[in-house]
Amino acid sequence: MAATTISSSQRDKLLQAARRAMKRAYARYSHFRVGAALLTSKNQIFVGCNVENASYGVTNCAERTAIFSAIVHSGPKLDIRAIAVVNDQNVPCSPCGACRQVIYEFGPNATVFFKSAKGWKASPITELLPEGFRLQ
Ligand code: THU
Repeated sequence: MAATTISSSQRDKLLQAARRAMKRAYARYSHFRVGAALLTSKNQIFVGCNVENASYGVTNCAERTAIFSAIVHSGPKLDIRAIAVVNDQNVPCSPCGACRQVIYEFGPNATVFFKSAKGWKASPITELLPEGFRLQ
């Protein structure tokens, strides 16, 4: 199935929400603040930021924070239409592999807005994560 189309005003709203969330990041170790905002099929927006830890590996990325927050606020029937990712250094930053798999779980048709090496991009999650894993 093709990725859902998102209007430019919806995209701008997501980017703005992601920037606001980014300011609340706990990025004590990397000093790299990331914000994410997702739009659901019910037209709700949920946000997240990265939350780091002294045990680096248990750090939670902004994208997964937003998704887990959406679940706790709205329930497990989450359907992600789009997710936007921003960072405070305005450098290219696409979702990591773990986050791609989590986005795919709740949004197989989701569009991902992020800054790539070639500028801002809107990519279907299936392009970022071909053959994503699903339990039948
Ligand atoms: N990070 C995110 O939150 N999202 C991304 O898409 C890339 C990386 C965070 C994790 C860590 O806190 C910091 O950025 C540096 O890797």
